[in-house]
Amino acid sequence: MSTARGQFSSRTGFVLAAAGSAVGLGNVWGFPTQVVSNGGGAFVIVYVVLAFGLAYPALMAELIIGRFAGANVVTALHKLQADGAGRKFAYVIGIASIIVASLILSFYAIVAGWLLAFLAAAVLDLFAASAPWLVDDSILRNLIFTGLFYFLTVVIVAFGVEAGIERSSKILMPLFLVLLIAMTAHVLTLPGASDGLAIYLVPDFSRLTDPGLIISALGQAFFSLSLGVGAMLIYGSYLSRDENLPSVGALVTLFDSSIAILAGLLIVPAIAVAQHKGLSVFAADGSMIAGPDIAFVVFPPLFESMGAVGLLVGLAFFALMSITALTSSISMLEVPVSLLIEKTSVSRPAAAIFAGFMVFLVSAAIIGQFDPLFDFVITLTTQYSVPLISLFFCIFVTWLWSRNSALQEIQQGFPDAESSLFWKIWPWYAKFLCPLLIVAVFIQSVFH
Ligand code: TRP
Repeated sequence: MSTARGQFSSRTGFVLAAAGSAVGLGNVWGFPTQVVSNGGGAFVIVYVVLAFGLAYPALMAELIIGRFAGANVVTALHKLQADGAGRKFAYVIGIASIIVASLILSFYAIVAGWLLAFLAAAVLDLFAASAPWLVDDSILRNLIFTGLFYFLTVVIVAFGVEAGIERSSKILMPLFLVLLIAMTAHVLTLPGASDGLAIYLVPDFSRLTDPGLIISALGQAFFSLSLGVGAMLIYGSYLSRDENLPSVGALVTLFDSSIAILAGLLIVPAIAVAQHKGLSVFAADGSMIAGPDIAFVVFPPLFESMGAVGLLVGLAFFALMSITALTSSISMLEVPVSLLIEKTSVSRPAAAIFAGFMVFLVSAAIIGQFDPLFDFVITLTTQYSVPLISLFFCIFVTWLWSRNSALQEIQQGFPDAESSLFWKIWPWYAKFLCPLLIVAVFIQSVFH
């Protein structure tokens, strides 16, 4: 079976694909809006500390399990735990992570569908044409564009690890970066941008120890690194044994945090520019418009007010958002697809179409019953399931598996691992500190 599995062809291929998974709407949109609502620069500081201090060790747990096992989540956890109760536990956690990955995809694809619809509208704008139904919220529009987004995701995953995931990431990630840098450079020259910069960069130190801020930053760091659903575990399973795991993991973490910080330099000043122009950036209750509405309510009038350049800026913005959603969604779909391929005899394309269609049905249900379901699924997955499953991944590697096996896995591609700083810190860190901190934050968030 292992010979038939795909593999990333190079370190760059892996890093771009894993960064493609990590960098997504969470970075470009979740992070900046969280910064604004959580004390500006103070949130940035706490976030960076938690991303490297807690999310990185958890990412390493997934990468180590994945590369060791070379298999889908369920089989991988089974390989760490061969006997009785541990095996059942492995099964439950494996299946839970596949369900959570699918649920995250189900809401992510709805947002991505809105983005594609606005992208289509921006393309029409270029030709001075318009189709108001594209930007008016309707069930039919949402079904069509969410469906289109699934189609794109399924096609890439159907092509496999190297020809699909790696190749698309190698094209889409650089394109995303160019768009992001160009837009940031442009927005920073506009009047009002410096007010946004001040909010973003000047920390309100009194908030550094605010528990609410710390919980949000931790949730954001885990979500942003695509942890707790086995997506990084699967990507790790396609990584060559010649690669140095701690250093590729660090590269992905660095890349992901840098893009989040860069995206903040675009989004927060852009909100300030909109405000400077007299556009409304506050919701009816006086709070700053956050979440999806920034892209769909605040920005379109901003682009319009820029005249001809605004057409291009709008197009670039929605293209950038759609691309980054796509490089993330493929890794979510890969979680159930890898299980189907390895546990049944179906082909990869058939597995991709089947899994994609099933999750599309979940999205369709959410679209039909939007108000009760959308926020519920987001909270359930991102606030509760992701930290908990991450906790179990850490427990699997450090408590239920032998320390020596972990070391042997890391030594492949990193022969000096045993005497490295990483090995001095990570084993006890992932064994005691990570679970403890996750539990502490979790308890606080439940009783918050
Ligand atoms: N990291 C992605 C982002 O920042 C979102 C995400 C969360 C994700 N969990 C995932 C992506 C699992 C792929 C797989 O937007």
